[in-house]
Amino acid sequence: KYQAVIFDLDGVICSTDTYHYQAWKAIADELKIPFNETINHRLRGVSRMESFEIILEKYDKEMSREEKVSWTEKKNEIYKELLKNMSPADLSEEVKSTLDALREKGLLLAIGSSSKNAGFILGQLGLGEYFDAVSDGNNITKSKPDPEVFVKAAQFIGKEPEVCLVVEDAKAGVEAAKAGGMDCAAIGDAVKCGMAEHNLSTFADLLQVVQES
Ligand code: G6P
Ligand code: MG
Repeated sequence: KYQAVIFDLDGVICSTDTYHYQAWKAIADELKIPFNETINHRLRGVSRMESFEIILEKYDKEMSREEKVSWTEKKNEIYKELLKNMSPADLSEEVKSTLDALREKGLLLAIGSSSKNAGFILGQLGLGEYFDAVSDGNNITKSKPDPEVFVKAAQFIGKEPEVCLVVEDAKAGVEAAKAGGMDCAAIGDAVKCGMAEHNLSTFADLLQVVQES
């Protein structure tokens, strides 16, 4: 059934959670806003500005649009500096060999990520030229749970949504896949939402899901 797999990036192909956390924590500290892992968790799959709006729920002053833009830019500078620590060693053997096996079976492989840093991260991981298409925060106007990022990914590889399988670790991403008319394989935290067609306990389980489809 499936002819293509569209992967979320952060939390699926690699883990950037602690870098996001450290960068947002630096901003929150400067603004004297309480910030912890639980709040950080809510930022998964959510765009940069929407993430900041969530952090600002605990801020009791007013902030102009320009100020918000400037704080999110600052966060991104810190985040990008931290991303320089990433290297091909951060790509797990399991992920790489599963991707290679899927490709060997003739499936097209794409990225569907809300991040504007997706290209940079893929480059750091040594996957700069690997995927057949990359749909990310730079080519969308609405972030997950809106389906736009996945719909664009399917268009980029020339496949109908029905033959695409999305792999997601965030509830917002599973919702986005569903809204785009695509099946979803949940991994990690997204399994809990119980909304996906398939639930993976390991990334390599994906092979079996595709084989049995
Ligand atoms: C991914 C992450 C989110 C992040 C978003 C935007 O979806 O899971 O936590 O907020 O990308 O990332 P960016 O790199 O553009 O700030
Ligand atoms: Mg994710």
